[in-house]
Amino acid sequence: MGMTDRRGVVLVTGGSRGIGAATAVALAADGWDVAVNYRTRADEAARVVKACGRAIAVQADVVEADQVERLFDTVTAELGPIGAVINNAGVVSPGGRVAEYDAERLDRVFRINTISAFLVAGAAVRRMSTAYGGNGGVLVNVSSRAAVLGSAGEYVDYAASKAAVDALTTGLANEVAKEGIRVLGVRPGLIETDIHEPGRLDRLGTTPPLGRPGRAEEVAEVIAFLASDRSSYMTGTTVDVSGGR
Ligand SMILES: NC(=O)c1ccc[n+]([C@@H]2O[C@H](COP(=O)([O-])OP(=O)(O)OC[C@H]3O[C@@H](n4cnc5c(N)ncnc54)[C@H](OP(=O)(O)O)[C@@H]3O)[C@@H](O)[C@H]2O)c1
Repeated sequence: MGMTDRRGVVLVTGGSRGIGAATAVALAADGWDVAVNYRTRADEAARVVKACGRAIAVQADVVEADQVERLFDTVTAELGPIGAVINNAGVVSPGGRVAEYDAERLDRVFRINTISAFLVAGAAVRRMSTAYGGNGGVLVNVSSRAAVLGSAGEYVDYAASKAAVDALTTGLANEVAKEGIRVLGVRPGLIETDIHEPGRLDRLGTTPPLGRPGRAEEVAEVIAFLASDRSSYMTGTTVDVSGGR
């Protein structure tokens, strides 16, 4: 398929910055029409839409079920049936030990990283599954190497919230494999975005075996591959994009 062929409609949650923004641009270059979801940064989302070409920005907080429904309905109404969803919106928690976490902190990180991922996955299945009258599609969940490494002393809650996303990828892939949907994941390592506390990348940036942090575009490339037919015999697996870390 040539670079300018239409592939269909893809929704990227948290597409206004970082990995989501780079992914939106990579998918647009692959020929997708892109919906760029954001929570607060309308100006950043507009910049990404401009870089994509055939794209729209849609505000929604993916933690809220009714806003997730509105997001999917808006994308379908404006661009057409959704063929792929990149479940990317996420946050880290402040650095700290498990013994210091309070319920408010835990509620925030699990709501944004885990519950939102389930809400978006459910909405994606209800639009794309052949069992619901859809045409099939791909869901790519953005996890983290933290899910495997555990992030001791930093944010074990974040790591656990992403380990739950890995289980979602495995379980949902088996649920919907015969309904035309492939479910895949990526586990980025240390990637240069604004998600990190100041100084963290300087401190840890050379620790991956490849000797440097990754760029958002390097994760986006893998997500674009997973969303495409080029990965047609893959489902229920999560790919590390972490420089060997
Ligand atoms: N950077 C890394 O080293 C790294 C490593 C492993 C995994 N990851 C994962 O990769 C994903 C993207 O991270 P990033 O580094 O690109 O982060 P980032 O630069 O901080 O960007 C986060 C994006 O998520 C959006 N967002 C946050 N909460 C949202 C919500 N409730 N509803 C809708 N959108 C929301 C933000 O929207 P606004 O712009 O409107 O705020 C923004 O577009 C996350 O899931 C993260 O856990 C990152």
